[in-house]
Amino acid sequence: MFITFEGIDGSGKSTQCQLLKDSLEDIGYKVFMTREPGGTKIAEAIRNILLHIDEPIEAMTEVFLYCAARNEHLEKIILPKLAEGYIVISDRFFDSTIAYQGGGRGLGIDKMKEINSIFIEKATPDLAFFIDPDLSTIEKRMENKELDRIEKEGIEFMAKVRKGYLDLIESQKNIRNFMTIDGDLSIKEISEIVLKRVEDFLENDRG
Ligand SMILES: Nc1ncnc2c1ncn2[C@@H]1O[C@H](COP(=O)(O)OP(=O)(O)O)[C@@H](O)[C@H]1O
Ligand SMILES: [Mg+2]
Repeated sequence: MFITFEGIDGSGKSTQCQLLKDSLEDIGYKVFMTREPGGTKIAEAIRNILLHIDEPIEAMTEVFLYCAARNEHLEKIILPKLAEGYIVISDRFFDSTIAYQGGGRGLGIDKMKEINSIFIEKATPDLAFFIDPDLSTIEKRMENKELDRIEKEGIEFMAKVRKGYLDLIESQKNIRNFMTIDGDLSIKEISEIVLKRVEDFLENDRG
């Protein structure tokens, strides 16, 4: 089973990935947790460019860097771990590129789906959780944090990314398992919703 967490910066993805991993391990599953961009040496090096380089990057270059990192991550980590029977939990996957570059950078949702089609065909998540807090909540969470290159784009950019996610999810209605969760619920409430959905999947809609 392949599970991803999506949402804008500061929405609570990393928090929920860890909690889900712990809960599933407690009930006996083999779980592998990973993140994008990252997961291999090459992908982590690309992550460093993407999040920390102090030179503007062309939007389409950004897309290909994310995709290059993703290909490493998919082929070397995600597919092998799934084949070994792990539940793989990834903090972001191709839906992030569709929302950030498609929505945030304005390159278009459809164009980003097209460029990510090789990933979509090889490893569409069984479940994707979209954690969606109010933008004012995100603004507050960003106040006391050292920001990376993408986070520095600010709240107007994040609003466009959020719209990208909403448009993407709308376009996938009845096609994919997306679950949108109110990100203003407590950490515990969200984790309970997530765990319940994953348990339902493992019991009912698997295969
Ligand atoms: N539901 C929540 N309610 C309140 N604070 C939260 C919630 N989820 C996450 N946080 C806090 O918000 C910050 C960002 O969470 P994080 O999981 O790192 O987000 P992301 O990985 O999406 O950027 C952290 O300080 C985290 O403890
Ligand atoms: Mg995170």
